[in-house]
Amino acid sequence: RPLHLIGAPTDIGAGARGASMGPEALRVAGLQAALEGRGLHVVDGGNLAGPANPWLPPVDGYRHLPQVVEWNQTVFNAVLDALRQGHLPILLGGDHCLGLGSISAVARHCAEAGKKLRVLWLDAHADFNTSALTPSGNVHGMPVACLCGFGPAELTRLAQMPGGGPALQPAQIRQIGIRSVDAGEKRFVHEQGLEVFDMRFIDEVGMRQTMLQALDGLDADTHLHVSFDVDFLDPDIAPGVGTTVPGGPTYREAQLCMEMIADSGRLASLDIVELNPALDVRNRTAVLAVDLVESLFGKSTLMRGPTIPSRS
Ligand code: ARG
Ligand code: MN
Ligand code: MN
Ligand code: MN
Repeated sequence: RPLHLIGAPTDIGAGARGASMGPEALRVAGLQAALEGRGLHVVDGGNLAGPANPWLPPVDGYRHLPQVVEWNQTVFNAVLDALRQGHLPILLGGDHCLGLGSISAVARHCAEAGKKLRVLWLDAHADFNTSALTPSGNVHGMPVACLCGFGPAELTRLAQMPGGGPALQPAQIRQIGIRSVDAGEKRFVHEQGLEVFDMRFIDEVGMRQTMLQALDGLDADTHLHVSFDVDFLDPDIAPGVGTTVPGGPTYREAQLCMEMIADSGRLASLDIVELNPALDVRNRTAVLAVDLVESLFGKSTLMRGPTIPSRS
């Protein structure tokens, strides 16, 4: 199945400028050639267009809500188009507010195709804020809540299924690498029963057990979406993001995470978001992201998969 790159050059939902340069930094780091090197067919659809960042303070708990809505509508259309063509969309962000448009489109497509949907949210943050809970008003801290139906009508409308419910139920989501959750957000995460594999969990049981649990129950009818916020990675190896949080997965842990997703054989759509070239060091974070995405699409050291079978 062809991979379809969709650039969304905006930082409209972020607290720092610069994620708008993410798509080009990933291209410069050789994303397309790396995927083609895996024998995959890649179509680069270029960049979407949308409103500029007016850099204004929050209004009623949201920064730039009209512009966030416009970008997400455009992303929704592009991702749904790619899926309907039978392509595997790779959204090149852009900040993480775009996960709303991307995953809403994926949920819509799954409903049409009669597929189950599982979302892996790789992130330092839960992104489960609402306008009442957010400390910043930045919508990149809210997409998971919006996808579950908690957010402004303009955004939850996008995330609405043909039947009327929200795009996602908390039970479809697995969050991995989490280590920064705001006070009110924390209560809401527990209230809604989100399954969060936080850094303490990964420290205690290891990445292998974490991924076995996060990927448990996938079957041939499951569409797996990965939303990869680059700030998931430890800032020592990935400095080029706007919201660094210390204590993230190491290079090896991140590789194992990606390799185990590849082994599941279910990956069907992907977001790569929050890469901020303005804060990067000689594009090394983009190069690392490309390296990890190669593993996500099956690159391995030897011609074999796991050392220990998944079910042992
Ligand atoms: N929790 C913080 C907020 O709501 C940070 C969110 C960061 N999100 C991200 N996608 N990088 O402002
Ligand atoms: Mn994050
Ligand atoms: Mn995020
Ligand atoms: Mn590599």
